[in-house]
Amino acid sequence: MSPFLLTRTLPEDATGADLRADVLHGLTRTPKDLPPKWFYDARGSELFEEITRLPEYYPTRAEREILIARAARIAEVTRARTLVELGSGSSEKTRHLIEALLPGLESYVPVDVSESALRGAAETLTAEHPRLQVHALIADFTRGLALPGTPGPRLVAFLGGTIGNLLPEQRTLFLRSVRSLLAPGDALLLGTDLVKDERTLVAAYDDAAGVTAAFNKNVLAVLARELGADADPDDFDHVAVWDREKEWIEMRLRARENLTVKIRELDLAVTFEAGEEMRTEVSAKFRQEGVRRELAAAGLELAHWWTDVEGRFALSLSTAV
Ligand code: SAH
Ligand code: TRP
Repeated sequence: MSPFLLTRTLPEDATGADLRADVLHGLTRTPKDLPPKWFYDARGSELFEEITRLPEYYPTRAEREILIARAARIAEVTRARTLVELGSGSSEKTRHLIEALLPGLESYVPVDVSESALRGAAETLTAEHPRLQVHALIADFTRGLALPGTPGPRLVAFLGGTIGNLLPEQRTLFLRSVRSLLAPGDALLLGTDLVKDERTLVAAYDDAAGVTAAFNKNVLAVLARELGADADPDDFDHVAVWDREKEWIEMRLRARENLTVKIRELDLAVTFEAGEEMRTEVSAKFRQEGVRRELAAAGLELAHWWTDVEGRFALSLSTAV
């Protein structure tokens, strides 16, 4: 079995400093909010994997269906020798792409903030494909990425609809930074969940078994462990609402009563009124024209648009112009 490389491009204390800044900023304003990357400690990554198997959470199955149907075409069009994947998680769906890209594919570069997810994925993939170089990067994809000097053509994949977890202004910056990683002719494979009926959308983020609720509340456990916060998950309710105008699902934690959360490491006391909500995540849903426009603004030209048979989710392939 060939060993994989694992590089941390975040300074050792970056997570701590970043988390402090985000919490200080997000919890002292109205309405309160927190950036979603703090969901994904080892437990959060496990819970997300559980979400992907829920009957209500259709995006993973829909995207896998498209990947299986289109992987050969993607390989033919891109002829990628390096596959970079942002927010790769377990890399579970990516195997379809990797298998289609082999034997031309030399290098796979999964990028994630979750070290545990990267290690698990890299171990599995190197065992299955001993000749594939796996170079995992622990990095924040919103912070400008430095990629290893692997051979082109390069294909950057950003799956799971994770782009929808960025706010519109963040998306613009993010797509420009992705464009800067590509040479002309290199490609971006982007997974976007599509606008659909409210019932289906809300159920996907508020499942009957309560896994998404546990995932949402896991951010409180991260705050407790990392910053000595004394928030009790039982003091909050999980809320998922569809914002029809912005066309995104908003995930929130709602205080069940008046309460104060003390955050020891920040020397901060945060008060919540009964019913007050803190936004923990948005998950934007897309339409083809919007995706095309946002890609074009970043110097990327939409070349292919594929959906699952039910038209719930789209994979687009765009090339750097
Ligand atoms: N691509 C997988 C996982 C999607 S969940 C799938 O489609 O199923 C989102 C993933 O992005 C998680 O693994 C999370 O750890 C990672 N992530 C979230 N914010 C990130 C950031 N700012 N930088 C790097 N990775 C991030
Ligand atoms: N990228 C996933 C999505 O927007 C992340 C996700 C799924 C998520 N379920 C969640 C994030 C629940 C927070 C809470 O579909």
